[in-house]
Amino acid sequence: MTVIWKDEYNTGEPEIDKQHKVIFKYLDDLEAHMQAGDIDDNYVKCLMDNLGIFTRSHFCYEEICMRRYKCPIGAKNKDIHTKLLKTYTAYRHQLDDEGVTEDLIQKIHDFIESWLLNHIIKIDTQLRDCID
Ligand SMILES: [Fe+2]
Repeated sequence: MTVIWKDEYNTGEPEIDKQHKVIFKYLDDLEAHMQAGDIDDNYVKCLMDNLGIFTRSHFCYEEICMRRYKCPIGAKNKDIHTKLLKTYTAYRHQLDDEGVTEDLIQKIHDFIESWLLNHIIKIDTQLRDCID
């Protein structure tokens, strides 16, 4: 399933939205590689490393914004970020330990997809009401 960015996913904070679109692009890129059968250790590790570096600064920026706008979901958002990073790190370690398998790629894909569908779309968008 491809998750396409829609304007209704905007948070009202342009920099956060720009960063969210980058995460959508990571999933899009992964899906294109999966469909083309063009998956190897190097690609997946590189994608995960870039996603991890990007995400840490994104989460930090988003948490600062939620605090600035006194968003009531801020504390919950921060907790979810901690859990997402924990899951991310577990998958990244599994990649190092076991290498790329079809099962692991699917799990990583589903993890990023669920992050978009359940976190960005359902939680982060609540910032919009605090900015308006
Ligand atoms: Fe978030």
